[in-house]
Amino acid sequence: FVTVVEDSFEPNQDGVCSGRHWPKGRPPIYVITPTYRRAEQIPELTRLGQTLMLVDSLVWIVVDDAESPTQIVVDHLKERGLCHVYLTSRMPVKFQRAKNPPRGVANRLKGLEWIRQHAKQGGVFYFADDDNSYDSRLFEEMRGTRKVSMFPVGLVTKLGVSSPIVRDGKITGFYDGWIANRKFPVDMAGFAVNIDFWLTKPNATMPFAVGHEETKFLESLGITNDDIELIANNATKIMVWHTKTKKNNKAVLGDKKLNYDNSNIMVLLKQLWR
Ligand code: UGA
Ligand code: MN
Repeated sequence: FVTVVEDSFEPNQDGVCSGRHWPKGRPPIYVITPTYRRAEQIPELTRLGQTLMLVDSLVWIVVDDAESPTQIVVDHLKERGLCHVYLTSRMPVKFQRAKNPPRGVANRLKGLEWIRQHAKQGGVFYFADDDNSYDSRLFEEMRGTRKVSMFPVGLVTKLGVSSPIVRDGKITGFYDGWIANRKFPVDMAGFAVNIDFWLTKPNATMPFAVGHEETKFLESLGITNDDIELIANNATKIMVWHTKTKKNNKAVLGDKKLNYDNSNIMVLLKQLWR
């Protein structure tokens, strides 16, 4: 006799979902994804969302850098049928016109706030920018993180990879094209954090400091290299890549002399940023 649990796509008061993708007793994974309005937004979310669908017991926290919810993103997430939370958090005004602003920070802070309030069943969280490429098995590897786990990230800086340097299972330094006095010269995609550990650090946070978000965040957790757990086969396997999608222009309407009323074109245009 099997009880069928209805699939739920919104986390309950304990911050977890139910259904086929939520077998009992698995620590949940919270993936915090900053995103923002641009031509590539929905394609990126499609790619990432479909990777995340291969992972069970996962909550996707999508935080849009927008004043108010963007309907096509809301609809897109609902259609995916993934356990998700959609939040908005705009980049502070003073950075909005900057040439090189701290990207995704306001979004991540909002996601972390949600975790502090709602995640009641333990598990881990991870920052997944919307434009990177992930091997879905990485999420299984990070599920067991006790404090902070680390792993290599491909396609970062001129060195092509960013990773802790490991000898005899111990971290002896960091390999990264931009060390810059950073205590933890790692990429945003290169670490995961245990929720219970995070909840013991009420003052831990991420500053709006371009290029120093990762190290300052990790420093605020009060960890040393000895606290870091190496995954991805002792940091010997690249399971996440810092890919960048070519920027595309906003779509314009084709030949304005033609009339597209009552055609599929009007429907297609609603799926684009214009
Ligand atoms: C690199 C790092 O990987 C980011 O984690 C870091 O936040 C950023 O630099 C920084 O230091 O500012 P990069 O690939 O250069 O990231 O930046 P993007 O991919 O353009 O942005 C990072 C994240 O922020 C993405 O998920 C993106 O969707 C989001 N973002 C970007 C916004 O929410 N708003 C923006 O205006 C731009
Ligand atoms: Mn990026």
